[in-house]
Amino acid sequence: MPTNRTFTMIKPDAVKDGHSGSIIKMIEAAGFRVVALKKTLLTPERAGEFYAVHSERPFYNDLCKYMSSGPIVPMILEKENAVADFRTLIGATNPANAAEGTIRKLFAISMEANAIHGSDSDENAQIEGSFFFAHVDQY
Ligand code: PPS
Repeated sequence: MPTNRTFTMIKPDAVKDGHSGSIIKMIEAAGFRVVALKKTLLTPERAGEFYAVHSERPFYNDLCKYMSSGPIVPMILEKENAVADFRTLIGATNPANAAEGTIRKLFAISMEANAIHGSDSDENAQIEGSFFFAHVDQY
């Protein structure tokens, strides 16, 4: 995946509460192009695979259970400086620390149900995008 791309997914709480449209609107208004998008459901096993890097952390099982509790909306996004700019747009992992106007400040409920994920590096954006979408280099 080119380095001007990032990966995101709208998490179960935000999808269930009907915020997907508002969140996608904010993403596009911030200058990101939606390269790929779908609504899907993870099994606990697939969620465990996605978050394998956190498997030693105390919240891992709860996170996998939560991420498979309802539909999610994974997306690949394109923009110059995509990874860093997107992390700014979504705000801090803990919504209590998220800046005003960020997606998490507006829609997150807790550290776990924090509305949206954003890749933390170009390398992980590539891995995470490929986890959900095939042939993205051709999009
Ligand atoms: S970061 O910024 O991704 O490094 O944040 P980090 O604190 O490492 O958290 C990684 C992901 O785990 C989720 N998380 C939690 N889930 C449940 N309970 C607790 N206490 C908790 N703390 C962190 C957090 O939402 C991060 O999810 P992603 O999808 O990576 O944003």
